[in-house]
Amino acid sequence: MAGLGAAMTTGDVGRGDSVAVFGCGGVGNAAIAGARLAGASTIIGVDIDDRKLRWAEALGATHTVNSAKHDPVEAIRALTGGFGADVCIEAVGNPSVYRQCFEARDLAGTVVLVGVPRPEMTIELPFLDVFGRGGALQSAWYGDCLPERDFPMLIDLYLQGRLDLDAFVSETIALDDVEEAFEKMERGEVLRSVVVL
Ligand SMILES: NC(=O)c1ccc[n+]([C@@H]2O[C@H](COP(=O)([O-])OP(=O)(O)OC[C@H]3O[C@@H](n4cnc5c(N)ncnc54)[C@H](O)[C@@H]3O)[C@@H](O)[C@H]2O)c1
Repeated sequence: MAGLGAAMTTGDVGRGDSVAVFGCGGVGNAAIAGARLAGASTIIGVDIDDRKLRWAEALGATHTVNSAKHDPVEAIRALTGGFGADVCIEAVGNPSVYRQCFEARDLAGTVVLVGVPRPEMTIELPFLDVFGRGGALQSAWYGDCLPERDFPMLIDLYLQGRLDLDAFVSETIALDDVEEAFEKMERGEVLRSVVVL
């Protein structure tokens, strides 16, 4: 819900939009799925891990960029006719990635911060660009979700085969396996481990 809502509700992605999602973990890949459902035509997944980028492609990314190997701002500009993406979604919670989002965004587009920063983090942006580039800098708390509105929508989309929730479930585990699942998540081996009681 956090990622899907960051694209569909907070970012207000619409038909034909270009969207770049930075961080293709569980949240970022849900943002990619949300951008596809909203009708975005160009969906760019950015991550430092090729395995995550493969999952991003499966969930709807039309292009991927490994930002450990390539400058994501240049790559996104090249994929969007030099303009930048209409909506850039930060799904890491990292000040450098936030700056990449800001710089990869089209003028008057929207940056959505869904990654959660740690308390000591600060950002530095050219103040003139914050003014001159216009647009919106939004944050998304749980994808601006209204459960009574959004959960039935997600279930309907799943039942209609339009939202592949199963693709997010890398494994099902017992409650006793939770610590090991956190370690797998830290190592980037899973999108989501789901506890079955
Ligand atoms: N706003 C909300 O309501 C909400 C809800 C849930 C989670 N979150 C936050 O969203 C963020 C992502 O959560 P997740 O569960 O998807 O985590 P995750 O660990 O599954 O995914 C994070 C992804 O970011 C990638 N990454 C790390 N450093 C990067 C970099 N420098 N550039 C590009 N990609 C990079 C990792 O490879 C990984 O694929 C976290 O900060 C989490 O706290 C926010």
